Amino acid sequence: MKIVVLTGAGISAESGLATFRDSGGLWEGHDPMQVATPEAYAQDPGLVQRFYDERRAALSRVEPNAAHRALARLEVALGDDLLVVTQNVDDLHERAGSRRVHHIHGRLRSAWCTTCDARHEWSGSLGDEPPCPACGARTLRPDIVWFGEIPYGMDVVEQALWDCDLFVSIGTSGLVYPAAAFVHWARGATLELNLEPSAGATDFAESRQGPAGSLVPAWVDELLGELSDESSDEAARPPS
Ligand code: OAD
Repeated sequence: MKIVVLTGAGISAESGLATFRDSGGLWEGHDPMQVATPEAYAQDPGLVQRFYDERRAALSRVEPNAAHRALARLEVALGDDLLVVTQNVDDLHERAGSRRVHHIHGRLRSAWCTTCDARHEWSGSLGDEPPCPACGARTLRPDIVWFGEIPYGMDVVEQALWDCDLFVSIGTSGLVYPAAAFVHWARGATLELNLEPSAGATDFAESRQGPAGSLVPAWVDELLGELSDESSDEAARPPS
């Protein structure tokens, strides 16, 4: 069974990372448009770099939760048949053990040199304008897809959605495109797991409400149970 899981900020909420829209439209005290656009960066690079430096530093203070771990468990069972597509820029899926994770909005722990186009794994700060390890230019920016920029690897995602038997959306408000449209691109069954019905909840065949930390492990257990029943039925069937 081929499954594509889309995750958003809600899956990391119980790890202690703030979502974008749950606190009156403010994200850690900032309007996302003032820190997550190329225009904001051009106008005040120091503010934007400090904002992302703080988000990057915060990663070392949080841990994956039961929802991230459940998806890693599902990957052990499904292997390459599971693809996690995340809008999150944190590294909690990877730290929980997931290997097939596609970050369409980039990653905090990656720095991108706008001079030579190199990308570097990065855990420190960028606000002090360190030189690019490849070309030496002091033009490293967060490797984050800002509003108005093109999400990464959409061809891979589109193909995976086209091929999947099940698309599951977890912890996302369904307000930001293209991710909000994935439910329409998916060829298979569709399921939403979210704290509350998202903007696109009625587009899903099924929508379950609750915190990801309990909904996701319960769904993974249910699915693994169904898959193991199917394989024992198959084994019990007499050869034709
Ligand atoms: P949002 O903040 O828009 O939505 C988070 C969703 O998670 C909401 O629907 C919440 O109800 C839900 N939620 C909160 N806590 C939860 C929990 N414990 N369990 C399950 N669900 C929970 O975040 P995203 O949808 O991820 O883009 O935002 C999408 C994009 O908008 C982000 O990637 C970012 C942002 O601006 C860029 O920065 C380009």
